[in-house]
Amino acid sequence: MSPGPYARTYQASLADPGAFWGAAAKDIDWVTPPTTVLDDSRPPFYRWFPDGELNVCFNAVDRHVAQGRGGQPALRYDSPVTGARLTLTYAELLEQVRAVAGGLRGLGVDKGDRVVIYMPMVPEAIVAMLACARIGAVHSVVFGGFAPQELAARIDDAAPKVILTASCGVEPSRVVPYKPFLDEAIRRSSHRPDACVVLQREQRPAELGERDLDWQDFVTGDAARAGAEPVPVRGTDPLYILYTSGTTGRPKGIVRDSGGYAVALRWSMTAIFDVGPGETIFTASDVGWVVGHSYIVYAPLLAGATTVLYEGKPVGTPDAGAFWRVIAEHGVKALFTAPTAFRAIKREDSRATRLAAYDLGGFRTLFLAGERLDPDTYEWASATLGVPVIDNWWQTETGWPIAANLKGIEQLPIKPGSPSVPVPGYDVRVLDGEGREVEPGQEGAICIRLPMPPGTLPTLWGDDERFVSSYLSAYPGYYLTGDGGYVDEDGYLFVMGRTDDVLNVAGHRLSTGSIEAALAGHEAVAECAVIGVRDELKGQVPRALVVLKSDVDAGAEGERIRRELVHRVRAEVGAVAALRHVDIVSGLPKTRSGKILRKTMREIADGQAPAVPATIEDATVLDALRPVLREG
Ligand code: COA
Ligand code: AMP
Repeated sequence: MSPGPYARTYQASLADPGAFWGAAAKDIDWVTPPTTVLDDSRPPFYRWFPDGELNVCFNAVDRHVAQGRGGQPALRYDSPVTGARLTLTYAELLEQVRAVAGGLRGLGVDKGDRVVIYMPMVPEAIVAMLACARIGAVHSVVFGGFAPQELAARIDDAAPKVILTASCGVEPSRVVPYKPFLDEAIRRSSHRPDACVVLQREQRPAELGERDLDWQDFVTGDAARAGAEPVPVRGTDPLYILYTSGTTGRPKGIVRDSGGYAVALRWSMTAIFDVGPGETIFTASDVGWVVGHSYIVYAPLLAGATTVLYEGKPVGTPDAGAFWRVIAEHGVKALFTAPTAFRAIKREDSRATRLAAYDLGGFRTLFLAGERLDPDTYEWASATLGVPVIDNWWQTETGWPIAANLKGIEQLPIKPGSPSVPVPGYDVRVLDGEGREVEPGQEGAICIRLPMPPGTLPTLWGDDERFVSSYLSAYPGYYLTGDGGYVDEDGYLFVMGRTDDVLNVAGHRLSTGSIEAALAGHEAVAECAVIGVRDELKGQVPRALVVLKSDVDAGAEGERIRRELVHRVRAEVGAVAALRHVDIVSGLPKTRSGKILRKTMREIADGQAPAVPATIEDATVLDALRPVLREG
């Protein structure tokens, strides 16, 4: 049988990446078109479009206005938590972006300078990102659900000249003040920004200090009125830094280049998401996560599509029909969210009775990513919506899908539990401990043969060494994804979960290290470990095992300490960490070299019977823990 469109495209992308991505680059407007597509002269560092010059904001905004589509909606803001609605056409978006870019210039922000954006899901957050891109500044968006310590770590690493924020975020149950978090983060960091611009929201205006500026004054001042025009940057210049959790408490600053990202995302909108100019995509995530960066902001706008910015939840704002309403009201063609959102909807309205109130006639595809799509949720979503449900697997590091079913090229049969096949450009291999490729059906470490396609991380911010040691040194010539899984006889990939200690809570990636650091800061704690255990709604939730100092009376003080620990994690890491379960134990199982056996504990807690590593220091410690772990 001759290969179909997917197989042909995939093979072409690996046989000659230069020709493949060179052709894709034609869909981007370059100030100076690249003559080199891939610079592979310095492995393991690869660079895409090194001599091309472009401006990503121009491609995402100005270009569509220049092409006569200024009147088309670019952004539809829909905020059930505040009742606000706003549509911005491409022409209106351009006007706002020009002004904010001018304002940033006025504050002394130049090409290459960093700007931290700590904002909720409001249009100004997107405007801010694009304004940075316009002047060649590097944005670093920090998710609003992170607490001061996490924000401080990012401020110290990125060293921003300016921070853009809002007075508060609005969650269904409460108004979350952002400004005090920011002030506290700046107090904790050694870097000081020159200025903070604060969007005042009526739900909770903030008090402004000496270095603060009101957003309204900022966007109406002389510099904003003068505006700023797009600055050409090189293909390899950074567009943004997005911090993500590793296993230690120190976040990794994933660098995103400009040229490769623009080319890959533009290509993905057609090939994977099948959404084109004038069509609407609704990505229910947050601009603080990679899914938000790529599929709320950059990809839809690069494609000239309309993006929905939704400030709400799948349930409770006001009910489990919220997504259906948004799809119907905004004529959404594709919805992209995390499986946990569908588990939440299913839990509340298992027969999807709320669907009947809405006309989903224009809706074509549901895309799910961010965590494993369990077959039950797949079946429910598929039967409920009657459209293809496309699981896609990727990570902050890659910026866009590694594996998916490519709707815009050839829709292959779907296998529940699998994100289908490798996306063109990604040479996915499953390796055993010795670096040998395993047989189909056999589990191993999922790796990607270098070079990875454009848009994927070229390095970590200011730390080439950590980039190599974290991702490239385990298997020379390969990028280590950190996920384990297998490929079946038909070439379908099955991703079974992280092989390291990274947590995935409701599609939010969190580090065991940060949670442990927050716990260890409590005066009564001698030692602790955090493991991620299975949860019906959130996929995984953290569970803490804590050993108290010998002079602490666990019987008398245990309850209070447990409460304080839950509170500490909320205050230090953020509410999204959702730590509820703390066990006080007498010891933690370790290897003889002192490494805590988190994986073994996690497997026991999930009801498995893992083999105990031969290197265990004292097996009786683990035996004593078994009933505690199983009980949870
Ligand atoms: N700013 C401040 N606080 C935030 C926040 C933000 N941007 N986002 C979440 N939080 C808080 C919530 O208010 C909640 O606080 P609480 O403990 O006081 O209630 C806590 O963090 C946990 O939030 P969340 O993870 O949203 O859990 P939930 O129980 O409120 O809701 C779901 C569960 C499944 C409905 C929710 O996780 C969801 O919609 N997930 C969608 C998946 C998603 O967007 N993933 C992102 C990657 S694609
Ligand atoms: P993040 O960097 O926050 O996007 O998280 C990336 C991690 O989420 C991956 O390494 C996986 O562990 C997990 N993940 C994302 N998408 C999927 C998916 N479709 N199936 C299984 N796991 C996924």
